[in-house]
Amino acid sequence: MDILFERKSVRKFTNNDIKNDDLEYILHAAMCAPSAKNTRCYSFIVIKNKETHKKIAEVHPAAQMILQAPLAILVVGNQNIAFEGYLPQDCAAVTQNILLAATAKCYGSVWCGVYSNKKKSEAIERLFKLPPNIKAFSLVVIGNSMDKNMQKNRWQPEKIKYEIWG
Ligand SMILES: Cc1cc2nc3c(=O)[nH]c(=O)nc-3n(C[C@H](O)[C@H](O)[C@H](O)COP(=O)(O)O)c2cc1C
Repeated sequence: MDILFERKSVRKFTNNDIKNDDLEYILHAAMCAPSAKNTRCYSFIVIKNKETHKKIAEVHPAAQMILQAPLAILVVGNQNIAFEGYLPQDCAAVTQNILLAATAKCYGSVWCGVYSNKKKSEAIERLFKLPPNIKAFSLVVIGNSMDKNMQKNRWQPEKIKYEIWG
């Protein structure tokens, strides 16, 4: 499972496309994520159109890397079918699977947050004409990486406690 240790946020991409088979693998992996009560409340919008990328960059200042990337996936959740308040957890699990699947296929990727930011989420929901029950959760930008840095060692044993906090 080395991909767990190799994954990192990539924000520099070449112009090369993502293979259709790889895109399907990534979306399939996304759909393998756990979801509360197995509601699978998520859906995906695959965005290759460069004009749409520009519109996203206009409303999401922290997603400028989309201007160089061939593709982004908008993860959305249906709040009418999500179990209780678990829409964000379900969509986060899906988003992480996308990142790991992209890493497994040797692509770079980055999770751009949308949910929890009123201004960004409203702008994205307007841009993609989402109905009121469909909430924009994350935008995952994917492409062939130009980032040659190795992942850093992030082992921090001091973060672990055993049995009890105190
Ligand atoms: C909820 C969430 C929102 C994020 N939003 C952005 C974003 O808008 N733009 C961006 O470049 N990175 C974003 N990131 C990526 C983080 O900056 C990144 O994961 C963090 O710096 C650790 O680096 P790593 O992914 O290489 O381990 C986000 C990550 C998470 C989990």
